[in-house]
Amino acid sequence: MAAAAAAAELALVKPISYKFGRPSAGARRGGASLVVRMSSAAPPLPPAAKTARPKKAPKNTQIKETLLTPRFYTTDFDEMESLFNTEINKNLNEAEFEALLNEFKTDYNQTHFVRNPEFKEAADKIQGPLRQIFVEFLERSCTAEFSGFLLYKELGRRLKKTNPVVAEIFSLMSRDEARHAGFLNKGLSDFNLALDLGFLTKARKYTFFKPKFIFYATYLSEKIGYWRYITIYRHLQANPEFQVYPIFKYFENWCQDENRHGDFFSALMKAQPQFLNDWKAKLWSRFFCLSVYVTMYLNDCQRTAFYEGIGLDTKEFDMHVIIETNRTTARIFPAVPDVENPEFKRKLDRMVEINEKLIAVGESQDLPLVKNLKKVPLIAALVSEILAAYLMPPLESGSVDFAEFEPQLVY
Ligand SMILES: [Fe+2]
Ligand SMILES: [Fe+2]
Repeated sequence: MAAAAAAAELALVKPISYKFGRPSAGARRGGASLVVRMSSAAPPLPPAAKTARPKKAPKNTQIKETLLTPRFYTTDFDEMESLFNTEINKNLNEAEFEALLNEFKTDYNQTHFVRNPEFKEAADKIQGPLRQIFVEFLERSCTAEFSGFLLYKELGRRLKKTNPVVAEIFSLMSRDEARHAGFLNKGLSDFNLALDLGFLTKARKYTFFKPKFIFYATYLSEKIGYWRYITIYRHLQANPEFQVYPIFKYFENWCQDENRHGDFFSALMKAQPQFLNDWKAKLWSRFFCLSVYVTMYLNDCQRTAFYEGIGLDTKEFDMHVIIETNRTTARIFPAVPDVENPEFKRKLDRMVEINEKLIAVGESQDLPLVKNLKKVPLIAALVSEILAAYLMPPLESGSVDFAEFEPQLVY
């Protein structure tokens, strides 16, 4: 959401520039989040990336950054360490985390991500405008998965001493995300492209979120990922004539990984009741839900050709995913937006219209100053629409399980 995400995220996001090679001191210390995205139609890569490209290797693609681009995140690892210190935090339910760890160790999908010749054959048949939009889908998905890999890997490393069980779960989740990102990147090779993930790791900006916000954001992104994958999977099972590329057949087991990741964050939040049980938590919960839903809706409405290409109605698909994610999220977040109120969708649709006008201004031949002047009222309209959606009466929610924790909070 060129501007929508801006409005929603600027309050939180403090981008930290990475120099080539090594993150800045500030970023290493603790706070940067990073967003990645690429498009094969984007401008040429900087020299560092070009020289690393072997001959005859698939063409590396480049990132075109927008506020709607999947992000790379970093956090305050020192604060994370104190949150997961069992000496300090008596709410950490060791038995629950041990059980979760065993689940992750089982590694249900160890042999799931195996490719076959169908992939390349199917990719060769995807031609015309759908081909470009398909590539973009693979790139964005790969970037989002890789973003999870980077964050979880670092958390696994940093929490090892403080809380080995939680640390190992993070490491095993990074294993899953690496697998997902790798599988998507192999999909790109079917289209003779590849994402240079090593280059991205070093060259992209990371966005910093405090641990509390990392929990809200990652919980939501795992659960929304689950609902997106399972919805596409079920739709294609029912309508196999739209099964244009075999990757979707893998989504059923794949989304179970995302579901488990989300459940882990749910357990983490329950162990940090201060992030769930006051009025600030309610405001932030609604804010994060709205940011995630609006971002997805505006993103997907710019890519209807992809969803139509696999037989889905973009807005119907998105509303289904938003409603299901919101119902799931209501089990743990103390408040969520009332997305089933028809007014919510009307507001999203108005945001799409405004965003389309913003994109048209951006793509026009006007001088930069003229473009900016034309954008101002549109951005104001978008912000006021988002604000109005935020101020709609929310649903009070929260976990039944969470109530079990409350007696422990009263010392
Ligand atoms: Fe994943
Ligand atoms: Fe995940």
